[in-house]
This record gives sequence, structure tokens and C-alpha cells, in this order.
Amino acid sequence: MKGKHIVLGISGGIAAYKAAYLLRLFMKAGAEVQVVMTPNGREFITPATLAALSGRPVVSEFFAANTGEWHSHVDLGLWADVMVVAPATACTIGKMVTGVADNMLVTTYLSAKEKVMVAPAMDLDMWAHPSTQRNVAILRADGVEIIEPGSGELASHLVGKGRMAEPEEIFRAVKKYFDRSRDLEGKSVLVTAGPTYENIDPVRFVGNWSSGKMGLALAEALAARGAEVKLVAGPMAKSEAIPGVERIDVVSAREMLDACLNVWNGCDAGIMAAAVADYAPVNAAQSKIKREGVDEITLTLRRNPDIAATLGCIKGDRMLVGFALETENGVENASGKLERKNLDMIVLNSLSDPEAGFCKDTNKITIITREEAPRCYPAKSKREVADDIVDAMTALWEGK
Ligand code: C5P
Repeated sequence: MKGKHIVLGISGGIAAYKAAYLLRLFMKAGAEVQVVMTPNGREFITPATLAALSGRPVVSEFFAANTGEWHSHVDLGLWADVMVVAPATACTIGKMVTGVADNMLVTTYLSAKEKVMVAPAMDLDMWAHPSTQRNVAILRADGVEIIEPGSGELASHLVGKGRMAEPEEIFRAVKKYFDRSRDLEGKSVLVTAGPTYENIDPVRFVGNWSSGKMGLALAEALAARGAEVKLVAGPMAKSEAIPGVERIDVVSAREMLDACLNVWNGCDAGIMAAAVADYAPVNAAQSKIKREGVDEITLTLRRNPDIAATLGCIKGDRMLVGFALETENGVENASGKLERKNLDMIVLNSLSDPEAGFCKDTNKITIITREEAPRCYPAKSKREVADDIVDAMTALWEGK
């Protein structure tokens, strides 16, 4: 954490006093910390305490009334290697979700380019309220990491969930984030993403609803940790270029297989996140099929090559990760695929889960390996899920 820039956002909850301990932990670990407080935050802990501990004046107002100087939230947002909001009240979370940028904390959040972590703190009923839960889910889907509150006695003397995670726990989450950075330098990873389209004729195809979001999140997570990524992408939305990611666009399963075989030799690992069409029309028509006078047509489909299984056959000591989308007997079916395709790990998501599946921004996974019992994860943004998958891969690498 040495030399890292941390923006510590403090909003107005009683847990604000714990932010001083958190700040001390960051400082002791060698980070530079800039405190940004909401006006209500100042009611719970004084800027003087935090300025003394951080060695920097606390930022709270847009303008200094007596000099007209103003604070640039953009500069702060760009300066931050990570922004940690602790405590985050229900109000601040709501403002972050909707972009109500009427204080320095929320404006800085909107300008922050790097990771944002939020440690909610509130009364149990506020935490359980559908509004808060909805807002937290939206923050997650926006890529914000939520450091879950704990259960215990609250400031109201009621007992339940809502108490801010302890400073040590928040510190560990931030440290874990920094430790991950660049741990994949020198590794090259193939990722397949999106659907494949199998032509019926020049204007029609057989396809599926995959958005490619999970594969894209994996490519981002890998590249952020220093890996060189070959992203073989079926037809899916164009993304901004991601440094460290070479995108190879393909349309059909056969094209995807060829692209994968071209790069597989130079890779250390592969993650098969594409929803490859299982079948393709045997003979795609060369010109548009006319419907005039034709009441029924029959498409003959042939099974597509299994890209994961093909790479699995020739993988040697490379690591291969697959996905399984199951409606029933998830763990059993996914474990069967792990064996059949010679994978090292399979990521199971269930279609019956409202937080998982096609076109969603969140996912809920179970990771299955040969070494350990299946591990279930809570619903998270696809970007956080991607980090969990990459963490599981690095753990496997370390174990080998
Ligand atoms: O057999 P099933 O389609 O459920 O397997 C899913 C896993 O296999 C995914 O990782 C998917 O990307 C991969 N797959 C593939 N080629 C296929 C079918 C699936 O690479 N033709």
C-alpha cells in the first residue's frame, strides 16, 4: 500500500469516529490519504482530528468562503488509486446511485476513475429497506465494491445488521485490492465472450441472448492485474479499447474455434465465457431465402465444434476455465462438464437465479474445481465476479 493514494470519504453517521482508526491503518501502511467529508460527517468527527492524522487539510466545501479558492473534485478523482467511503450512510449511497452531486464526496465519486469501495453504516431497518437494498444492488452493478455491514448492537441500541464493518476489515479489503494489482504480469490469457451467430442466409441467423458482459468483465479484470488478454469476441457491443486487451472479433462458432486455436499456443490460460451456439445450419443459403409462397421451411442443423473441449484436449499444463449455465442439478451437471471438457475449473451460474444470467449486470456463481468443495459466492457485479474468478485461478496456480 506504500505510496498509494487513497481518498477516504466520510459521511454523516455515528461510525464516522471509526474512520479515524481506518485512516491510521492506511497511514501506517504507507499510503497517502485525502479525507473528503460531507457536511454532516463533520458533526460526528472533527476535520481537525482527521487533518492531523492524515497530514492534509480535509476537503469538505466546494469553496473557501474567505478566499474564493475552490477544490477540484476532478483532480481528486484522478489522484485516487482507490476511493473508500466509510461510513456510507443511506443518504450518501442514494446520492451516489443517482448522481446527486451536491457535496464534495459525491462529486469526487463521480470523477473517480479507479476502484471505489463503500462500507455502509446505518440502522437495521434502513439497511433492510427495499430502497437501500435496491441502491446497493445498483452500486454493485456499477462496479462499486460493497464491504458488507456487520450485525450487532447499533447506535439506536437495536440489534441487527447495519453496523459498519470494522476498520481492520475495511483495511483488509483495500489491501487485497492493491495486492491483486499486477499479480498477473507476464501471463497471457485467452478469453472467449459473447454469443456466436450461425448464418441461415445472408440476413438471418441462429443465435442467443448472451451480451458478452461477463467475458468483457473478465478481460478487464485480467488486464487490470497485468495479464495480456486475447479476447475472442462473438457479435456483441463494441467496448472502449482496454489497454492490455487485444480483441479479435468473430461471428460463428467455427470462426471462434479458429481464432482460439491461432492464439492458444502462446497462452498460459483460457477462460471460455462465450455462449457458443450448439448447432449451425448445415448449408447457409447464399442469397436471402424468400417467403412468398412458402408456408413452412425446415432448417437442418449440425452440432458445432466444442471449443472448450477442443482446447482441453491439447491444453497440457495450461489452465482452462469453463462456464456452465444450468437450470437443474447445477453442481452435478457442471462437474460432469469439468471432466468431459478437461477443464481445471468451472463457473456455475443458475438461470433460475434472478441475479444471474444473460444481459444482467450482476451474477451469482459457484466455483467448482477438482481440488476443493464447490464454493458459492453472493450476487455481485460482473466485474467483482470476474475478480473472484481470477482470484480462484491465481490460487490454483499457487497450489500447483
Ligand atoms: O456444454 P455447455 O455448452 O454447457 O458448456 C459450456 C462451456 O463450454 C462454456 O465454457 C462454453 O464457453 C464452452 N463451450 C464451447 N464450445 C461449445 C459449447 C460450449 O467452448 N460449442
